[in-house]
Amino acid sequence: MDSRVFLSLFLCFLSLSPAIGALRFPGLLGEKKTQGSVLKLTTGVSSAPFDPTRVTQISWRPRAFIYSRFLTDDECDHLIHLAKDKLEKSMVVDNESGNSVESEIRTSSGMFLQKAQDEVVVAIEARIAAWTFLPEENGESIQILHYEHGQKYEPHFDFLDHKINRELGGHRVATVLMYLSDVKRGGETVFPDSEAKHTQPKDDNWSACAKDGYAVKPKRGDALLFYSLHPNATTDLLSLHGSCPVIEGDKWSATRWIHVRSFQVTSKSTNGDCVDENENCAQWAASGECKRNPLYMVGSEGVVGNCMKSCKVCSS
Ligand SMILES: *[C@@H]1O[C@H](CO)[C@@H](O)[C@H](O)[C@H]1NC(C)=O
Ligand SMILES: *[C@@H]1O[C@H](CO)[C@@H](O)[C@H](O)[C@H]1NC(C)=O
Ligand SMILES: *[C@@H]1O[C@H](CO)[C@@H](O)[C@H](O)[C@H]1NC(C)=O
Repeated sequence: MDSRVFLSLFLCFLSLSPAIGALRFPGLLGEKKTQGSVLKLTTGVSSAPFDPTRVTQISWRPRAFIYSRFLTDDECDHLIHLAKDKLEKSMVVDNESGNSVESEIRTSSGMFLQKAQDEVVVAIEARIAAWTFLPEENGESIQILHYEHGQKYEPHFDFLDHKINRELGGHRVATVLMYLSDVKRGGETVFPDSEAKHTQPKDDNWSACAKDGYAVKPKRGDALLFYSLHPNATTDLLSLHGSCPVIEGDKWSATRWIHVRSFQVTSKSTNGDCVDENENCAQWAASGECKRNPLYMVGSEGVVGNCMKSCKVCSS
């Protein structure tokens, strides 16, 4: 079809369609309309529904969004309660080795929940998947963080520099950061390189650190979503972000990092009993088969390897 004809037909359809809508769906457009738009999750596990009308875009470069009242007060309290007695000093990933190390760059304390630890966590994980349109299995388990007076996390990236940390799940594509408490002063999440940094009005209630970028004030129940990768899957250097020092009060947050692929540890290694399925595994591993024939030996996403023990691919 001639493209001009196609275009004019298309425009014609566009100009007609509101009328069609009004004629055919009076109920939907009229009295049936409820307050806002509220989608129920089909899984039925979510206690609070996913409501897109509560989402605001705050920055396009990097892509960042805020969902107000993403968590209920009860959910915030519950997450803090699960973490309270189990906090340990937070670590960072070392650039060179890929190992977790302590650092003055990050002075909070934290712990990881288990995936689907209980019904509340299941509901939150499902809501995150619904909001981000990213599969649940691509998420790491939720990390709870506690920042006391003066504690902070210097600006950093969430994508993983070290290749070894990308073996499971690949790059981190997005982060959902949920605020479990209000913070009297300080503790803002700051994006020092966001394009919106110069246009965000800030009065004296913002910390000096927050003034150095686009900043988000922790508000109990709110969630911040930002992407560490561009749509073309390259790393977004504007996604640099940090947690400003807490000046007054303390800060609780929960983080869900989401990868480009499934982050499910295979069932065998989760149990800690990483096994060899064949008596020749040790011999094959010694002769280099783990590298030469990784799919059979080590497995991959969704495929359990046959010689995981001898190839030493399980953490425990
Ligand atoms: C890690 O990499 C960042 C830049 O990506 C750099 O600023 C920092 O100095 C590096 N740290 C170490 C310990 O090499
Ligand atoms: C800023 O903080 C002062 C107290 O330091 C308070 O009186 C004022 O209402 C705050 N302003 C805003 C916009 O929150
Ligand atoms: C990927 O997208 C970013 C942002 O639009 C752009 O700056 C970059 O050049 C792109 N890279 C490639 C390899 O397409």
